[in-house]
Amino acid sequence: MRYKKFENKIVIVIISSLLILFSGFWWTANLNKKVVSYNQLVSITIDIQNSIGIMQKSYYAFFAEPAKQAKYKAEIEAKLDHVDEIRDRFIEHQIVGVEAIYNQFDLEYTKLKSAFRFNQNFESEHIETVNDLIEKAQFTNLIVKQTVVNEIRHFNAIIEYVSWMIIAGVITGIMGILFIIRIDVLRPIREFTADLKKKTDSNALEYTDIKISGLNALSELAEHYNNYTHKISVINDLNDRIYAQNGFDEVLQYVFYACKPFIPYNRIGIAIISDDGKKIIATRAKADHPILLGRNYQEYLSQSSLSDVIRNNEYRILNDLSEYLQNKPHSESTRLILAEGLRSSITIPLSVENKVVGVIFFSSVEKNAYNISHIHFLSNIANALAISFEKSFVYDELILASVKGFAGIVESKDHATGNHIERMSQYARYICEILYEDKYFIQEIDENFIELIYKFSPLHDIGKVGIVDSVLNKPSKLTEQEFEIMKAHTSIGYNILRDMSASKFFNRTAFFKIAMDITCYHHEKFDGTGYPEGLIGKHIPLAARIVALADVFDALTSERPYKSAFSYEEALTIIEEGKGKHFDPDIVNCLLHHESGFKNLYRKMKYDL
Ligand code: C2E
Ligand code: SIN
Ligand code: SIN
Ligand code: SIN
Ligand code: FE
Repeated sequence: MRYKKFENKIVIVIISSLLILFSGFWWTANLNKKVVSYNQLVSITIDIQNSIGIMQKSYYAFFAEPAKQAKYKAEIEAKLDHVDEIRDRFIEHQIVGVEAIYNQFDLEYTKLKSAFRFNQNFESEHIETVNDLIEKAQFTNLIVKQTVVNEIRHFNAIIEYVSWMIIAGVITGIMGILFIIRIDVLRPIREFTADLKKKTDSNALEYTDIKISGLNALSELAEHYNNYTHKISVINDLNDRIYAQNGFDEVLQYVFYACKPFIPYNRIGIAIISDDGKKIIATRAKADHPILLGRNYQEYLSQSSLSDVIRNNEYRILNDLSEYLQNKPHSESTRLILAEGLRSSITIPLSVENKVVGVIFFSSVEKNAYNISHIHFLSNIANALAISFEKSFVYDELILASVKGFAGIVESKDHATGNHIERMSQYARYICEILYEDKYFIQEIDENFIELIYKFSPLHDIGKVGIVDSVLNKPSKLTEQEFEIMKAHTSIGYNILRDMSASKFFNRTAFFKIAMDITCYHHEKFDGTGYPEGLIGKHIPLAARIVALADVFDALTSERPYKSAFSYEEALTIIEEGKGKHFDPDIVNCLLHHESGFKNLYRKMKYDL
C-alpha cells in the first residue's frame, strides 16, 4: 500500500512533464502549417518572376517580326491564364499589403491582356503600360520576398520557443523525480541511519522505536526493523529476568504481556510431565478469561493428544480445536478447553538438556490464529521458558524438600502428631479450594495461593523444634508456665523461616511470605485472644486463618498424650462454636456449606493414612 504513494508521485511528475512535451509537439504541428504557407510564398514568388519574364517578352513582341509575334502571343496567353490562380493564393494566405499591390498589378495586366488580344496596334501608351507593369511586378516580388523572410524569422522564433518548452519539460521531470527521491528516499535513509547509529551507540538491546517521517517504502522497512528489535528486546528482557532469579510465575506474567504484539493469544498454559513420566499435569495458566482447565488437572500421557508432541519433541499447531477435539469427545480436558472458548492453539515442548519436561500452550479464542511465523518466534523463547521453569522448579523443590525434612524432624520429636502434617495440609488445601470456588477472598486466593498453602502448611509447627521435650511431650495438661513456653513455638518457627529467607540462596521473599504467615500466626484467634500478637479478625493473615482451622480440626479428631480424640461431629460442633471467636466466620460458613465433601475427606484421611 505504502509503496503506491511514492510511485504515484513519480507518475504525476512523468505525466506533467509529458504534458509539457506534448504541448511543445502541438506547437510544432501548428508550425507545419506555416511551413506550407512558406512554400506557397516561394512558389508565388517564382510565378511573379515568370510573369515579369512574360511581360518582358510581350514588350519585345511589339518590336519583333510578325512571325515571332505570333509565337510570343501564344506563350503569353498560356501564362496569363495562370494569373487568376496566383491571386487566389494571395487571398488564401492573407498576405497583407501584397494583395493590394497585386490587385493593381492584375488590373493593369488585364488591360494589357485585352490590348494584346483584340488590338494588335500597339501605341506608345501600351509600351508605357508594360514598363509600368514590369516595375510593379518587381515591387510585388520584393514585398513577397520580404514577407517570406518575415515568415522564416517567425518560424525560427517558434522553433526556439518549442525547443525551450521541450527542455523545460525534461528539466521539470528530472527535477521532480530528484525532489521526490530526496524527500521520500534520501531523507528517510539519513534519518533511519542517524537513529540506528544513536541506538547502536547506546544500548542496542534496549527497545526503542526508530522513527521515519512520512509514509513511504522506507517506513515499512522501519516498521519491520522495529518489530524485529522489539522481539529481540523481549527475548533479551526475558533472559535478564530469568538471570535475575525471577520466579517462573513472574517470568510467565511478563511473557503474557510482552509477547502480545507478536503472536495472538488469550491464554498461556503450562503442563509438566509427572516424575514417573506417565502423566501430564497442568501446572500454570494465565488467561484473559477465567481458567477452567486449572492447576493440577492431569491426564495419562498414553491417553493425551500431547504424547506425540512430547515423544517427538516437535511443535503442534491446531487451528480448529473444536474439530480436532471431536476425536476425544468424552475427555474432561476437551470439555474444559472448549468451555474456555479456545478455538486454536500452538503447543511447544519445553525441553531442558534435550529432555522434554513439559509443554507450553498458547491458545486463542479465534480459529486459525496461528501460522509458522508464530512458531519461529516462540521457538526463540521456549528454551528460555524451559530453563526458567526448570530453575524455578528446582529451587522450589529444594526449598520444599529441606523444609519438609525439617518438619519431619519436628514431627518425630513431637510423638503426638502421627500423620498430622499430611492430614492438616490436605484439610487446608480443601478449605482453600472451597473458598476459591465460592469466590471468598477473591483478591487473595488464586491457584498459586492454594498450592503454596498446601506446600507450606506442614511448616506451621516447625518452631516446636525449640521446645524442651519435657513440655512438648508432657502426657498431661500443661501448667500455665509450661503453656507460655509452648506458645513460643510460633515465634521460634517464624525466626527460623525469616533467617532462611534472608539467606542468599533462598532469597525468594514472595515464596516465604505465606510460610512465615502460617508459622507465626496459626494460633491467633479471630476475637483477638490468640498468640503471639493477639491480632484481631482480618488483621490475621488469611493463610494463618485457614491453617488455624485445619490444624485445630485435626488436633481435635486426633488422640494426644494429653487428650483423647473427638468424633467428627463433636469436632465440627467445637469449630462451629468457635465461629467468630476462634475462627474466621466466613471460613466456617464456607466449610459448613461444603460439609459433606469435607466429611469425605476426613474419612479418607482417617482410614487411608
Ligand atoms: P496441638 O495438640 O496440635 O493442638 C493444636 C490446637 O488445637 C491447640 O492450640 C488448640 O487450639 C486446639 N486443641 C487441641 N486440643 C484441643 C481440645 O481438647 N479442645 C479444644 N477446644 N481445642 C483443642 P493450643 O491450645 O494453642 O496448643 C498448641 C499446642 O500446645 C498443642 O498443639 C500441643 O502441642 C500443646 N498443648 C496444648 N495444651 C496442652 C496440654 O494440655 N498438654 C500438653 N502436653 N500439650 C499441650
Ligand atoms: C520492553 O520492555 O522491551 C517492551 C515490552 C513491551 O512493550 O511490551
Ligand atoms: C493438560 O493441559 O493437562 C492436557 C491437555 C490436553 O491433553 O490437551
Ligand atoms: C491449553 O491451552 O491448555 C490446551 C490446548 C491444547 O490442548 O492444545
Ligand atoms: Fe501450633
